[in-house]
Order: sequence, then structure tokens, then C-alpha cells
Amino acid sequence: MPRRRPPPPLILAPLLFAACGGGEAEPWQAPLTEVTAAPTEGTWTSEAALAVAADPDAVGVDADHHVVVVAGGVTYALEQGALVPRPLYAEAGEPEVLGAARAVAPKAATGAWLATDAGLFSVDRHFVTRSPMSEVASDVGAVAEVAAGPLAGLWLVSQGVLHHATDALDALSVPGLGQVSHFAVSADGAFLVAAQGATVRVLEPGDGGLVARDPSLALGTVHGLAGAPGAVWLATSTGLYKTDGAGFTRYTFGQASAPEVTQVAVDPATGGVWAAAGGSLYYVQGNLLKRHGGAAGERGLVVDQLGDLYSMASGALIYRGTGATDGTAVTFGDVVPWIEARCSACHSNQTSDFRDYDVFITRAEDALARVRSGDMPRCAGSVRCPTEEALAPADYAVLEQWIRDGMPQ
Ligand code: HEC
Repeated sequence: MPRRRPPPPLILAPLLFAACGGGEAEPWQAPLTEVTAAPTEGTWTSEAALAVAADPDAVGVDADHHVVVVAGGVTYALEQGALVPRPLYAEAGEPEVLGAARAVAPKAATGAWLATDAGLFSVDRHFVTRSPMSEVASDVGAVAEVAAGPLAGLWLVSQGVLHHATDALDALSVPGLGQVSHFAVSADGAFLVAAQGATVRVLEPGDGGLVARDPSLALGTVHGLAGAPGAVWLATSTGLYKTDGAGFTRYTFGQASAPEVTQVAVDPATGGVWAAAGGSLYYVQGNLLKRHGGAAGERGLVVDQLGDLYSMASGALIYRGTGATDGTAVTFGDVVPWIEARCSACHSNQTSDFRDYDVFITRAEDALARVRSGDMPRCAGSVRCPTEEALAPADYAVLEQWIRDGMPQ
């Protein structure tokens, strides 16, 4: 299977930070607001432990928000509830091992990035391959790719140094930050938060370069960061924080002293956030706060395409279903009129009628993926519709919610 690869990008001189001469971060007193509302209690629709052959090292999602987990040097994709191995395809002369996995992150288009101590790998439909960037970026601890905005492109931490890959790989020494242990980019590519210990910097484009700002807040030791639309969330020893780049909000969950938050993950479809603290999992969306029971000591919280949660335990991947359990679930009866309006013209023949519950539950997730990608519904003559005619998320919300609610009849 010969393939030609582009030459690896060169490392350029460290990108200059504008307006922060002498490696100083710009002083800034970021405003801090507090949300003290107490959460209501929530329950899971289901909980399960999926056995993994070895202790999982890293878990994340791909561009379609399907779960990818690495355990014992093998990459697995979660397909219809089963962990399917994705073999490493090594070209002649390339290492035949992945190394110790550190992070899995969605690519902007399809597939996922895998950060390991041996470099950067690409997880695609069938294989895992080593990125040519591994020639210059070794020991990759974190990775993120952003599709749009001024900070668009691939970001990674190699040997503790933040890098931005566009045409080349630029190393950035962030003022006031030694090694970078965590970073996250807002989903719109507007700003980036980088952290090491209790030191946090907000990086934004400005003055022909990047400006690093010190929020001058006692945020506590940072345990995790997650990018969301227009925001970055911080899990720290003093609570859960959100920043929009201009100010910070702290969530105390109605407690006098906010609990230490060890993990944070964003639901890509709703923008809602899950945070792990003191053996509970909290869900935050707008003014809605919910507390769910959850085991302590798990690592690597992620949210999949259906809004369900996954995290790593010893020898297992823990699954928690998040659909509605309060009687407000969308039922198949709510979905049928949508199918009739959008799909029945082509999908209600004798062999396969999507209005038939038993037929449609086997197709539902594939249907959602195809609608999301613009592949369905087709236009006249069954050809793919022009991009501008693809359904918007609001047009298929009923399908998405029904799947999230566990596909009740
Ligand atoms: C104008 C015709 C047309 C419309 C309308 C249409 N489809 Fe399809 N659909 C097709 C064709 C043709 C195929 C087979 C092509 C393929 O698999 O790539 C297909 C295949 C599928 C499949 C995979 C095969 C199967 O039976 O499981 C799914 C799932 C699907 N469509 C979902 C939908 C959904 C959901 C809608 C409504 C939102 C929809 N389609 C509307 C023409 C249509």
C-alpha cells in the first residue's frame, strides 16, 4: 500500500508574542462572577462497564464524536457497543508501536488525533498511521484541532511546549508559563487557555501576533480544560470555571466552598458541560444544574455523539446513559411525523418502512449520522442535495433527542 507523504513541517523560530516584551504576560484583572445555584438530582438511563483487554491509557472522541480508546498499545473504536481494534499501519522504517497514549482528540474533518510519547498519530476509518509531524514533535502530551476562527489549525504540546501547526510547526513559549500541561481552544477558534499547575494564561490574537494575558485570579490547580462554543471550561482544585475570554464564571454547586473538580467534558451537540467532583458528575447547561451519582477515581471523561458519558476505570470503559428519565422523553410517536415529512418519499416501501419501529431502531444512529453529514435526505432523483439544502440541527432535533432518550417506543 504505497502512499506518498508530504515532507514534515519545519520548526520555525518561536512565534513572537506581540505586546508582551521581555516574556511578560499582559496584566489583567479578569472579572469573576459566581453561580451559587444548587443542582437538582439526576439519574442515568443506564450504566455499564465494557471490558477492555488492558487498562485504558487514553479516551476521546473522533470528528463524529464516536468514542476512541487506547489500551495496552492498541487503539479501539467503539462501534455499536463493541470495541473494534484499529491496527497501526507502519511504513518501512517507521516504529511499529504507538508508545504510551496520552490523549485522543477529534480531527476537524474526520477521524481522530492520538498523542503518545512516540509522537502524533492519525486514527482513520480502518487504520492508525503515524503523522509525519512526529519527526519534529516527539512526546506529545495533548492535541486539539480547530476548524475555524483566528486560531484555526492543529495545536499540540510536545515536550511540554505548545506548538501550532499550520504550514509549519511553530513553537510558542507562553510568557510566565514554563511547561504547558493543559490547553484548550474555544470551539470558534477565538482564544486559547493554557495552564501549568495554578498558572493560567489566556492567549488571543492581537497586535499582529498572539497576546498572552494573565487573568490574575486564584483559580487553583488546573486538572483539566475543555473547549466549547465561545468558551473554555476549567476543572480546578477550587471548582468549575468557565471563561469566554473576557471574564470568568465559577460554579459552586450551592456549596459554601465549591468542590474540587477533577474532569470536565463538553457535549458537542448541546454545548452542555459535565464535570466530575467528589464522586458525583455535574451537568451544567445555561441555568440548568444537575447532579448525578458517579464513581470516584475514574479518568478521562468524554461525551459521545448521543450525549452519553464514557470514562476509564481499571480494565474497563465505563458507560453512562444520559437520556431523559423524568417522563419528558421523546417517543417514536413524536418521530414518525418527521420521518413522514422528510424521509418517507424514499424509505417507506414494503421491504423497509422507516415508520415501523422495529425497522427504524436498527437504522436510527446511521440515519442521524447521515442527516448530520448532509447525505440524507436526498433530493429528486436520489442525488445528494446541494450543501445549502442540508438539514440544520434544529430540523432534526426530534430524531437526535429521541436517540438520546434511549429510543422509547
Ligand atoms: C429522495 C430520496 C431519499 C430521501 C428523501 C431520503 N433518502 Fe435515505 N437513502 C436514499 C438512497 C438512494 C439511499 C441508498 C444510498 C446509500 O446507501 O448511499 C438511502 C439510504 C439511507 C440509509 C441507509 C440504508 C438503510 O435503509 O438503512 C439511511 C439510514 C437513510 N437513507 C436515512 C434517511 C433519512 C433519515 C431520511 C430522512 C431524513 C432519508 N434517508 C431521506 C434516498 C433517500
